[in-house]
Amino acid sequence: MLKFFFAFEGIDGAGKSLQLKHCAKALQEMGVSVVTTCQPSHLAIGKLIRDALVNKLDFEETTLALLFAADRLEHLKEIESQLTDSLVLTDRYLLSSLAYNASALDKAWIESINRYATLKPKKTFLFDLDPKIALERIQKNRTTPEHYENLSHLEVIRQHYLDYAKVDESIILIDATKPITTLTDEIIEHIKPYL
Ligand code: TYD
Repeated sequence: MLKFFFAFEGIDGAGKSLQLKHCAKALQEMGVSVVTTCQPSHLAIGKLIRDALVNKLDFEETTLALLFAADRLEHLKEIESQLTDSLVLTDRYLLSSLAYNASALDKAWIESINRYATLKPKKTFLFDLDPKIALERIQKNRTTPEHYENLSHLEVIRQHYLDYAKVDESIILIDATKPITTLTDEIIEHIKPYL
């Protein structure tokens, strides 16, 4: 039987990537076999996307949405093989496409190009944070903002995330203003029933 798959989501600057590392470490200390990964992935299409996010390449929004969906399909083969013996934590998954790419594009189209990403996370941890605080955090760590990192964009994306959280019980809302260790404990409690 495959092990379980968990996604960490939220607007840029919400702290999900750091928290994912803390959770992986806590699980490893409990003796659990864990693999961490992210989307955009490290695979060929993921690399193209990362170049576009830092403006080294320029794609239409529609092309970028297709690339995110294509990267996800390629990456799924790898995730599925890892799930045979490890629990997988991913930094972003399908909900990122729904929350981010549906800002400029039609939501039904985004859902349809992602239709074959049938592997569903057992739980998605949605890190919720005021975009103003998120941008302050980003500015402390980086000099050039990435593609989506501006206030009006992040406000729309946050709202999309919250709308999905209202209708999907597998999405766990996480208050990203809480201390790091409190959040690690909270998330591990949600994962424990699936160990
Ligand atoms: P992010 O996860 O913040 O990575 P890093 O910390 O390395 O910058 O950046 C990925 C960006 O890609 C983020 O702005 C969200 C966006 N994105 C989409 O628009 N659609 C998607 O399907 C995914 C996976 C990410």
